[in-house]
Amino acid sequence: MSSDLFDKVKSIIQEIEDTKPGVAEELEQFRLRFLGTKNIIKPLMAEIRNIPNESKKAYGQLVNQAKQKAEAIFEKLKAESEQAADQTGGEGLDLTMPPYPQELGSRHPVSIVMNRIVSIFERIGFSVAEEREIEDDWHNFTAMNTPEDHPARDMQDTYYIKDSIEYLLRTHTSSVQSRVMTTQKPPIRIIAPGRVYRNETISARSHCQFHQVEGLYIDEGVSFADMKQTLLNFAQAMYGPDIKIRLRPSYFPFTEPSAEMDVYWGLENEIDYRITKGTGWLEILGCGMVDPNVLENCKIDPDKYSGFAFGMGIERQAMLAYNLPDIRLFFENDVRFLKQFKASM
Ligand code: DAH
Repeated sequence: MSSDLFDKVKSIIQEIEDTKPGVAEELEQFRLRFLGTKNIIKPLMAEIRNIPNESKKAYGQLVNQAKQKAEAIFEKLKAESEQAADQTGGEGLDLTMPPYPQELGSRHPVSIVMNRIVSIFERIGFSVAEEREIEDDWHNFTAMNTPEDHPARDMQDTYYIKDSIEYLLRTHTSSVQSRVMTTQKPPIRIIAPGRVYRNETISARSHCQFHQVEGLYIDEGVSFADMKQTLLNFAQAMYGPDIKIRLRPSYFPFTEPSAEMDVYWGLENEIDYRITKGTGWLEILGCGMVDPNVLENCKIDPDKYSGFAFGMGIERQAMLAYNLPDIRLFFENDVRFLKQFKASM
């Protein structure tokens, strides 16, 4: 009887020594069998009461030996399996396998057009300035020569932050002009792309959010001719070297004189008639010489410095470039729409 028990323990020790668990599950099985709360060694320990006194000590030592062996082997195997997992980059991961193909995303059409405009100006020394979309009244309106009671504010109604009349969602990227002019010294040559907001009824033609690119150049002796040449260079890079431009007198509170720039789109088909209202000319941006009041508001001496600014909407240009009928498409995030824009414009 007692030698039976000795034999049982010995066979367990043998089993422990023979086990070579390879993968994690086998290792866990080993742990449960020999070390877990219901391990097979425990009941044999309890059997010590059936062992004659003179053999109790030898039996106890044998059982302990089994326990220690199980622990030692478990630790060793665990370390080995962890090391193996490291070498394969994780549990059972074979790094020599070819990867799953990853689908390439596509750029949003607004980003494609915006990046294109920005890079044209970067090439002639403008650097990108990005600013906040939640703006204060002063930077969006007052500094830009549009004081509180100015009628031009009516055309740019927007969203105010929590009933505040101080913070609003910027209505144009022109707010970046006042931000930059109050923090940098001339010469200033920036191009500022970004999102703007207006309290507009959403339709196929207008939206409460859209994108603009703003440009600003301030230095000594900057003239209207500099502006015209810069914008011509832009139009040629954007629409082709043969494009014709024209500047029409206009009004903006922050420029004096102000103009709108048209490009000659042509009148080849019905769509051309519709988008150019039968004139062949398409308006693409507003521009002008920075009003001395704006310079003064931003603590730049108007007797020493002058400059020009311009601003253009992106969605309209993207709609023209891709022949899209509805501005809402840009903001619906429908992948069936978005994934068509793989090519760069
Ligand atoms: N901020 C004007 C708008 O949103 C566009 C604009 C016009 C920007 C003339 C300018 C500018 O910098 O000189 O309608």
